[in-house]
Amino acid sequence: MLLSQLLIILAYFLNVTNSLSTSSHYARWAHVSALVGDKLYFMCGVVDTKNTIGSRDLFYLDLSKNFKDSLPIIEISSNLPVKSMWSAANAYGSTIFLCGGWLSYVSNGTLDNIDYVFTFSTQDNTWQRPSTYGTPPASHPLAAVSSVIDKTGKIYLFGGDNAAIAYSKMYIFDTINLTWLDSSDAGMAFNKTLYASVLLNNGEILYIGGIENYQIAKFADINIVELKRQLETQIQLETQIQQPEAQLQQPVPQLLPP
Ligand SMILES: *[C@@H]1O[C@H](CO)[C@@H](O)[C@H](O)[C@H]1NC(C)=O
Ligand SMILES: *[C@@H]1O[C@H](CO)[C@@H](O)[C@H](O)[C@H]1NC(C)=O
Ligand SMILES: *[C@@H]1O[C@H](CO)[C@@H](O)[C@H](O)[C@H]1NC(C)=O
Repeated sequence: MLLSQLLIILAYFLNVTNSLSTSSHYARWAHVSALVGDKLYFMCGVVDTKNTIGSRDLFYLDLSKNFKDSLPIIEISSNLPVKSMWSAANAYGSTIFLCGGWLSYVSNGTLDNIDYVFTFSTQDNTWQRPSTYGTPPASHPLAAVSSVIDKTGKIYLFGGDNAAIAYSKMYIFDTINLTWLDSSDAGMAFNKTLYASVLLNNGEILYIGGIENYQIAKFADINIVELKRQLETQIQLETQIQQPEAQLQQPVPQLLPP
């Protein structure tokens, strides 16, 4: 048998074993997810390719169950008062915080230009629109924003766009006392939207990929934002752009045999 034929059969086999049957009802994009215990929650998003309207759908994947025959998905009836797409979500304790996004009222379909945060309690399966304190973000909609949450329950929302301009601001939301911290100086030297972010254990946030300055950002250009807490109430943000290509060249000689 030719190698190519073998590869095709192998690819077919892998495909069959990797794709578990699920209802197409769950297919979507511009949605968010958050992990609480063994449950991976999926929220909102767009279910159509032609009609870009958000939804308030809510379901979770039970990670404690076997994935052998079908995906263990459990649907929850959602009382979220808005439909959402391109939001961000983080969990703290048993609560999920849905931040930013394109939001439209379920009741009449008009754009919700007021809200930035909704909370979902995984204890009683209900959404709430909490009163928040401090100065909320200035940009609306805060869509395609990505966020990370630290151990003390602070959510760092950076960038995003309103379909016309990409943002360069960092907004920090304290989930413990529902307060927007004063981050008026936290404008970054770069704008970014539709990217991935990850918080490292050393307090650095990596911003990877996405769209920068209307162009697809080079994947290797990783923006690093370092979070330094000087006082409990004061957060200083430092940014640097790392160029991993240049740094990767140094360790290579060490790998060569003597
Ligand atoms: C749409 O509904 C929301 C809340 O249900 C309300 O605040 C808003 O004023 C309504 N907008 C219009 C145009 O009816
Ligand atoms: C991003 O920021 C640069 C300046 O750093 C600015 O020239 C550009 O217009 C911004 N792009 C967008 C899409 O907002
Ligand atoms: C909320 O807590 C943060 C510290 O985590 C503090 O800086 C801020 O002042 C508090 N805000 C209010 C309104 O209590």
